[in-house]
Amino acid sequence: MSISSNSISSEVGESKSGRLAVKELYAVLDRELAEAAKNKTFKREVPLDGKQAGIVNVSGKTEVMLASNNYLGLANHPRVVQAAQFGLDMYGFGMASVRFLCGTQKIHLELEEKIAAFLGMEAAILHSSCFAANEALFAALLSADFGYADYSDIIYSDQLNHASIIDGIRLARMVAKSTELKAYRHNDLAHLQQLLSEHLAENCRIKTIATDGVFSMEGEFAFLEDLVDIAAKNDALLIVDDSHATGVLGKRGRGTPEHCGVHGRVDVITGTLGKALGGAAGGFVAGKKPLIEYLRQKSRPYTFSNTLPPAIVCGTLEALDMIEKDNSLVEKLQFNTSYFRKEIKNLGFKILEGIHPIVPVMLGEAAVAMDMSDRLLKEGVYVRGLWYPVVPKGEARLRVQISADHELRDLDFALSCFAKVGKQLGVIGK
Ligand SMILES: Cc1ncc(COP(=O)(O)O)c(C=O)c1O
Repeated sequence: MSISSNSISSEVGESKSGRLAVKELYAVLDRELAEAAKNKTFKREVPLDGKQAGIVNVSGKTEVMLASNNYLGLANHPRVVQAAQFGLDMYGFGMASVRFLCGTQKIHLELEEKIAAFLGMEAAILHSSCFAANEALFAALLSADFGYADYSDIIYSDQLNHASIIDGIRLARMVAKSTELKAYRHNDLAHLQQLLSEHLAENCRIKTIATDGVFSMEGEFAFLEDLVDIAAKNDALLIVDDSHATGVLGKRGRGTPEHCGVHGRVDVITGTLGKALGGAAGGFVAGKKPLIEYLRQKSRPYTFSNTLPPAIVCGTLEALDMIEKDNSLVEKLQFNTSYFRKEIKNLGFKILEGIHPIVPVMLGEAAVAMDMSDRLLKEGVYVRGLWYPVVPKGEARLRVQISADHELRDLDFALSCFAKVGKQLGVIGK
């Protein structure tokens, strides 16, 4: 998937060689940007006037926000904001340090324990983001020789995994050149098993299987009930990035493992604090104690980068407390999601079936998705379109994301706008 690629370069172009002077470099960058704009891949940012919420303000106009990862509405919840303010007052703005020098407060340790307990894991380690956590995990674990003179590790990775997993694997492979990557077809467990069996007899040191818990372009989840067994049978370490599911899926919001009936049985879970758990920033790795302690020693984004600010730590502690003690936000999110999914289909739109609050509304052509998202913004609905190369050609879509912060009247308003614009563009019948 191109979202994992750094280049926005056009596909065709004569190959060049030699030096690129600095001022020519800027000209090249300008050309690349113009090319991206021409190809409609240039990412434009629409500034919000105020807070992130179910209803937001854009240029003085209210919009139903259907494009954020604020699944539980905690990004702007008074209790979370108050806890963050308490964190500021009590612990200050920043720690001006990495964790092992003088960047650890009791609240950091408390949050790590709370995340681990929430996920049914032994321990957890905080990072500045889940992106950093994923890079740290693969690079630290799979580039160490552990005293083995000659070794090769194999990483089995779902083809649609998030860019941060892809980059973590790249980093590990840059250091440990013999580490192999076997990408299996998306959610195709037969293919995974075939790849695993091809290497059973070989002299492989560590096997890992890496998957997103929920795939963010589709809102579908990995089959963890099977993956847990496959990993155990093949003595492989199962790593699940549950960024879009922690606080979202499962009866108690524990994520994809709970939804799949394997809570506490996944080897390693990585996740973000930047979506359902308050939406600020931060990430973590959770797993067995030796792994987490090893990461504390060896993770470069952990040992060479600042600790999470106290306000975020306190806000996230409160967010987790709220989810642990009261299921109502998780239930409201799940209710809102099934309501929207049912009603958008009743209007005649085609969606990708599922249960996740990511609801891809399938439109086919990129031009239709672009036009529809522009028109919806004018009507009062903020939703983003995705098209090739982010998703396959001919599968352009609007990616709707539902929140517990939406009231039914907000969703009904959004649905009426979808109906109006859908009819204008001939996506649904009159
Ligand atoms: C599956 C997945 N992993 C990791 C990340 C990165 O999370 P963070 O914003 O904490 O770096 C995202 C964010 O979009 C994601 O969807």
